[in-house]
Amino acid sequence: MLQIENLSVSVDGKDILNSINLEIKEGEIHALFGPNGSGKTSLLMTMMGFPDYRVTEGRIIFRGKDITSMTIDERAKLGLGYMFQRPPTITGVKTRQLVELCAQDKTANVEELAKQLNLQSFLDRDINRGFSGGEIKRAELLQLLAQNPNFLLLDEPESGVDLENLALIGRLINDLLRSDLNFKNRRAQPSPKAGLIITHTGYILDYVSADIGHVMCNGRLGCSGTPSVILANIRKMGYEECIACLLRSS
Ligand SMILES: Nc1ncnc2c1ncn2[C@@H]1O[C@H](COP(=O)(O)OP(=O)(O)O)[C@@H](O)[C@H]1O
Ligand SMILES: [Mg+2]
Repeated sequence: MLQIENLSVSVDGKDILNSINLEIKEGEIHALFGPNGSGKTSLLMTMMGFPDYRVTEGRIIFRGKDITSMTIDERAKLGLGYMFQRPPTITGVKTRQLVELCAQDKTANVEELAKQLNLQSFLDRDINRGFSGGEIKRAELLQLLAQNPNFLLLDEPESGVDLENLALIGRLINDLLRSDLNFKNRRAQPSPKAGLIITHTGYILDYVSADIGHVMCNGRLGCSGTPSVILANIRKMGYEECIACLLRSS
């Protein structure tokens, strides 16, 4: 469904991502681990097409199409959806307006979706203005539910979120991705989704089960494998060991 080939990216003339290769099949859920500043958000921003992230080498293929030079809205229309780690506050634009814009299927019931996230009273507030950490993440998820993309890019859905909100967000992400099904049954769904979930702490994986995990350090992808095994090793040895391992193997 998605292939990243030899992707290198710079921001403001500074090299940030270095020869990234990644393949995600339809129905697959991947987790991306890594210390702060390693380039995880930059990878997702590049996949979504934010213009500050300049592709200096390589390409991104989505459903057979080279999307490397496409604009954000073109990628969104093709079925890529992004949940920000830290979305901006937008004064003067109501949450409802953005959610309605996100809804490609114009029959989507915005009120009903907002109810699932306890956000009914937030629809007529400016986007993210004065929202708490949990409310910001719920509002991000509301936009994704309205957009209903085939490929979900989730940037630290657990960051800044308390346990109650985490359970709610985790359950809804699971419903979207059907991570509770095994891969074969997930693939057999009418329109199976795929996802790439950044998690620094791994807490979201208590609710959403990922098939494959990757570690990013210093703008490079290191090892890949079973997410729970990778997470257990990170918890035991810390990211310092990941960096040391990557240095040994390069
Ligand atoms: N828009 C930007 N302008 C300048 N530097 C950036 C920008 N975005 C990311 N960076 C830099 O790129 C590096 C990786 O950041 P980021 O992708 O946010 O890492 P992570 O999500 O893994 O914490 C950091 O050094 C960060 O300061
Ligand atoms: Mg980040």
